[in-house]
Formats: sequence, structure tokens, C-alpha cells
Amino acid sequence: MIEYKNLIKKFGDRTILKGLSLKVMRGEILFILGTSGTGKSVLLKNTVGLLKPDEGEIWIDGEEISGFSEEQLQKIRKKCGMVFQHPALFDSLTLFENVAFGLRKHFNYDENQIKEKVNLALSLVNLNDVEKLFPAQISYGMQKRVSLARTVALDPQILLFDEPTTGLDPVTTSAVNLLIKNLSQKLKTTSMVVSHDMHSALTVADRIVVLDQGQIVALGTPDEIKKSEVPLVKDFLLEVH
Ligand SMILES: Nc1ncnc2c1ncn2[C@@H]1O[C@H](COP(=O)(O)OP(=O)(O)OP(=O)(O)O)[C@@H](O)[C@H]1O
Ligand SMILES: [Mg+2]
Repeated sequence: MIEYKNLIKKFGDRTILKGLSLKVMRGEILFILGTSGTGKSVLLKNTVGLLKPDEGEIWIDGEEISGFSEEQLQKIRKKCGMVFQHPALFDSLTLFENVAFGLRKHFNYDENQIKEKVNLALSLVNLNDVEKLFPAQISYGMQKRVSLARTVALDPQILLFDEPTTGLDPVTTSAVNLLIKNLSQKLKTTSMVVSHDMHSALTVADRIVVLDQGQIVALGTPDEIKKSEVPLVKDFLLEVH
């Protein structure tokens, strides 16, 4: 569904992604772990065309997108939804309108359909009776969940999550993990999930990639990763009880 071929991304004289090659299979949940600053968010942003690679190819569902125009990228972004690390909701819109925004922009749903889709998306992230509030009136964790709902509401075939559970309590973390798993099982969504949370990765992922300084140092199923001898992977495993 997604393939990166020898991806290189530089900022000035700093090379962040150093020739990364990786295939993400249709319908799988792939977790990406790695220390802070290693290029995880940069990888996701390249995938939706918010950043362009310096070298290499990015294939999404049979199309090479790294040379795509802004107009062509709009089509990709409909197919490939991204949940950003930091929520960035529209402050002047209610939570309902925040979630409805993309639905109004990209589809021709009537008001009843929009209402149904917004309420379903909010309930999937355990948010009920908050539609009328504004972003400033809810906690950071709730804002993160609204931003998840906003992307999930669009039913994209591919979902890219940038640290969807960082900063959430354990109960909500489990709910979000279950949501990712359900979407993949029921809607056959392909998911890439950037995370620092090895426990979530081992529970939810089909495969796990560990990045270090812009390169893949481990790739495998949760069982394979558990047995890894790579020092960074062992450090991540120390967090799991
Ligand atoms: N727009 C940009 N301009 C210049 N440098 C950038 C830009 N975006 C990211 N970087 C640099 O690229 C590197 C990787 O950043 P990235 O945000 O991908 O890290 P990350 O792995 O997501 O880390 P974290 O776990 O902290 O979110 C960092 O050194 C960062 O400073
Ligand atoms: Mg990041």
C-alpha cells in the first residue's frame, strides 16, 4: 500500500532520513518507534506531501507521489489521513464544526449525514456531549482525541498517526489502541502509528519498525521484536512490564 524507496531527506546540511526503504502492506498496522528527533514525524509528513524528499521514491497505492503537484496531493490526502502529533484545532469553531470541517470540504453530505458521522467519530474516541464546546474549553488529551476523530470521520483508506496516545491517560490510551485495531479489522484500513510506547506497539501492531538516526535498525512482528538483540530495541523493551 505504501512503499518508500531509498528515501533521503535533508534540512540544510543535516541529513534526517538516510536512505530509508520500507514497505507497508495493505491492511496492516505498522508501528514506528524511535528516539526523539530521529525523523518519525518527517517520514509521515513526506508521506502526505507536506515535506518533499531530496532523493528516493514514495509509492502510495500504486502512485509515486514525491513529484506530485498540490492539486494531485489533495487526492492523496483524501485517501491518506494524518493525525498530527499536536492537535491544532480551529479555535473559533466548536468541536462539532472542527470534526465536520473536512467532511464539508471534501464530500457532499447533507446535514443529517454530517451529524451522524461527527457523532460516530466522537463516540469512537470516547467523547460524548462535548460537540458544543470550543477547543480552549477542553483538556489537551481531549483535543488530541478530537483531532483523531476529525481524521477518522473522513474514512481514509490509510491512516497515519503521529503519537496518538502520547500524553493520554492509560484508559484513553487503551481506547485509542482499540480504535486503531477496530478500524483496521472492520474497514481494512492500513495504519502507520508513530509511538514511543512499546507496550501499545506489542499489543496492537502487526509489525514494528525501530528507527535510529533516520535508519531502520529493527523490523519485525511483535514476537520477533521481543527477541531483538539491538541495543536500542532492548532499551525500549525495558519499559514493558
Ligand atoms: N521543517 C523543518 N526544518 C528543519 N529541520 C526540521 C524540520 N522538521 C524536522 N526537522 C528536524 O528533523 C529531525 C527529525 O524531526 P522529527 O520531527 O521527524 O523527529 P521525531 O522522530 O518525530 O521526534 P519526536 O519523537 O520528538 O516527535 C529533527 O532534528 C528536527 O529538528
Ligand atoms: Mg515527532
